[in-house]
Amino acid sequence: MKRWLLMVLSLTSFNSHAELSGENIALNCFNCHNRKPAANSAIPSLNGYSRQRLQQAMLDFKYDKTNATLMPRIAKAYSDSEISAVAAYLSQQ
Ligand code: HEC
Repeated sequence: MKRWLLMVLSLTSFNSHAELSGENIALNCFNCHNRKPAANSAIPSLNGYSRQRLQQAMLDFKYDKTNATLMPRIAKAYSDSEISAVAAYLSQQ
């Protein structure tokens, strides 16, 4: 098969973007955020947030309503429904 055809095929499968589950997205969040409050971390733990608060914070980051360093870039990677799913998952942890 020609190389360009392979490229087109792989781009096509990228475009059919499947929504990620809240649990899968949360694994990314836990790279930086502690699962439980930790006194020695500059990054806040996401423990104890309500679903509404998490979702609103993520939407504010995504749509540049809050000044922050990393989170606006991270939030922009997710659809609004993925943000809703991860907020629901994290609020139950
Ligand atoms: C690369 C590290 C990193 C990752 C990954 C990350 N965060 Fe953050 N998060 C931060 C930092 C740093 C802050 C402080 C605000 C800023 O400067 O962006 C923050 C702040 C927040 C806040 C605001 C907390 C508060 O009380 O002000 C929320 C909510 C949040 N993150 C949620 C998430 C969620 C949900 C995910 C997963 C989708 C996630 N974060 C992934 C680093 C990260």
